[in-house]
Amino acid sequence: MKGSAFGKVILLGEHAVVYGVPAIVVGIDRGATARAAAPDKVGAQGASSELVLRAEGREQSLTVLPDATSDLARAFSALLEACAVTAAVRVEAATELPAAAGLGCSAALAVAIVRALDAWLERPAASLEETIERAMAWEKVFHGNPSGIDATAAARGGCLLYERNHGGARMHELQLSTPLTLAIGHTGIPSTTRAMVEHVARLRERRPDLVEKSFDGIRSLVNNARLALEANDVVGLGRLMDLNQMLLSGLMLSTEEIEAMCRIAREAGALGAKLTGSGGGGCVVALVENDAEPVLAGWDKAGFRSFSTRAFQRAQASERSRAP
Ligand code: PMV
Repeated sequence: MKGSAFGKVILLGEHAVVYGVPAIVVGIDRGATARAAAPDKVGAQGASSELVLRAEGREQSLTVLPDATSDLARAFSALLEACAVTAAVRVEAATELPAAAGLGCSAALAVAIVRALDAWLERPAASLEETIERAMAWEKVFHGNPSGIDATAAARGGCLLYERNHGGARMHELQLSTPLTLAIGHTGIPSTTRAMVEHVARLRERRPDLVEKSFDGIRSLVNNARLALEANDVVGLGRLMDLNQMLLSGLMLSTEEIEAMCRIAREAGALGAKLTGSGGGGCVVALVENDAEPVLAGWDKAGFRSFSTRAFQRAQASERSRAP
């Protein structure tokens, strides 16, 4: 009765993607798993659904009551409704991803839970589109106006050019002739997607020309990155990531820690480095030619936690995913 899902890294195009600019996202082999079963306790008012969440070495347990006030309880309740689950259920979910770090932790949990619920109810597994749509019910509670890129990457994995358009999304799967090697480091500062997306919306109201120019720049970087990926030009891709970081800094999404981590990564031989996800904290992604170790060692010396991962195209990603 288990489900699983990928975490994600946005290689280029975060924030602009909310406004219809394409972005490039890759699924990573760290993600989330979930298991669903009938609850073992029945309280005085009948059985209530329960979510037990294991993340970052901590366990959190909550029961869904109609007057739920925490975002997590409301998100779980919205997800049960989107999955048309009427019976009480106990869901145990676990993730290896840091929360509020730009790696798609909440979307991976949502997708894993959707899959676990289908398995528990012995229903045919929902299509990718349906899985993503259900997961969005949970994502909207946390993020307000999510582009859907996280839920899409969590469900599909692989490397995608993703574009939000008029209430829907268009995506194009990118073929990677060789896997990408990525170093991912955590600033240690949590970042809230909702707050950072609102920051950009406010800046766009105050300085529309600055933001539109940046988004135009990001659009052409993403288009060039697509060509670089298709030509297996990792050096070119790294340069484009550096340029994307400059534009994100101009939108005031970077921090001292992010800048320091990008510098350390480049000095250690990374082909490019930038914030990934919403910025204002969270994670930095560095693209390396083969060996992520020098970048990880540089970050470690400066006190930043990190890990390396490889991004595959979809067929290989599914084979290699930590599916139950
Ligand atoms: O920080 P994350 O993993 O939630 O990534 C957010 C990506 C944004 O483009 C900033 C927001 C969105 O909904 O696409």
